[in-house]
Amino acid sequence: MIVEPKVREFICTTAHPEGCRENVKRQIAYVKEKGQVCGPKKVLVIGASTGYGLASRITAAFACQAATIGIMFEKPSNGKRTATPGWYNTAAFEELAQEEGLYAKSINGDAFSAEVKQQAIDMIRADLGQVDMVIYSLAAPRRTTADNKTWSSTLKTTTGAFTEKSLDLRNNTIVTKTVEPANEEELEGTIKVMGGEDWMDWMDALTDAGVLADHAVTVAYSYIGPELTYPIYTEGTIGQAKKHLTETAGRIHEKHPGIQAYISVNKALVTQASAAIPIVPLYFAILYKVMKEQGTHEGCIEQISRLFHDKLFAAEIPTDPQGRIRMDDWELAPQVQGAVMDCWKEVNTENVEKLSDIEGYWEDFYHMFGFHLDNVDYSRDVEIQVEIPSLV
Ligand code: NAI
Repeated sequence: MIVEPKVREFICTTAHPEGCRENVKRQIAYVKEKGQVCGPKKVLVIGASTGYGLASRITAAFACQAATIGIMFEKPSNGKRTATPGWYNTAAFEELAQEEGLYAKSINGDAFSAEVKQQAIDMIRADLGQVDMVIYSLAAPRRTTADNKTWSSTLKTTTGAFTEKSLDLRNNTIVTKTVEPANEEELEGTIKVMGGEDWMDWMDALTDAGVLADHAVTVAYSYIGPELTYPIYTEGTIGQAKKHLTETAGRIHEKHPGIQAYISVNKALVTQASAAIPIVPLYFAILYKVMKEQGTHEGCIEQISRLFHDKLFAAEIPTDPQGRIRMDDWELAPQVQGAVMDCWKEVNTENVEKLSDIEGYWEDFYHMFGFHLDNVDYSRDVEIQVEIPSLV
């Protein structure tokens, strides 16, 4: 089949298998170029198929030579529709890891469920004995808890309505967008889905099963961002969930003193999860322009490679007063934020291409789905039914 992008606002409904493979290859090449890290050897990545989780799996495997088990929630192709990008990424990752003699297996299912936790435990026990690192990188719209109740995550404010400039992704115009406040149930739902309860459940389950090494490290990802987006992010429903996630790091450490639990506050990047947040994409596009001009722009792989090299496995782990690792240090640098705010005040439909890196935003967006890569021949027929070696 000849696969073309089909974009609807902030989602692309097709993915290109060879483009996704190229993305994975490029990330592996980056990690290899940066050199080895004396880090974990057996790693469980929850949310391993795209974005920060995929970059974490690639870094663990190719910088630390770690065996990896990846958990994801992706759709294979049915022969007519393509698979989701995370499916193709994982197929490519497993193949490329195995070519280098690295153990790599994946579980495709709902990470929130007890069944998937048990499958992961059985796989660790049978193949690896124990894991010494657990990366928690889930971004999910909903979660069904053990009592069979389904909770939904919402991107709303927790104070009043918030009105700001926003980028209309359908036609690249600047519009004004109002985000409404959440009700109690929406706030509770977001905390249930994106807070730390499930991270704690994973750590309890792995510890109880004896498949977590003494002194294992676990890390979950968070975001803070600039004051401009506080009402919609940090002080919004998602921010309350991230607050719960951050508190959970402390709770994990209290309950399981051997485990080192960290929050890494990462940089704003275009991923499937973040493209859906209102107002934020315009900030991203301006941020990209400023950071590229100042030479500090990073993608997921650059962020996670730096996390492993300079922070998590450095002689001493640098943290802020709240104990968090700050990978958003370059994003929040005063010279970056000052320039971003100057552009934000001025930006309108006429000057958006000059004041923001809207092209870079869209390039990252297309790349996520395996499109717009210069060395992939998109006019060629490709097989869309691709197998993931460990799931056959
Ligand atoms: P993403 O959408 O690229 O990745 C989400 C991953 O979770 C995928 O592997 C997906 O298959 C998996 N997943 C979703 N629901 C699942 C389920 N029920 N069971 C099993 N796997 C499931 O998202 P992204 O952006 O990489 O986010 C990962 C984490 O990083 C999130 O906690 C997010 O808040 C955080 N983060 C993201 C930032 C950004 O700008 N993208 C910035 C800072 C933190």
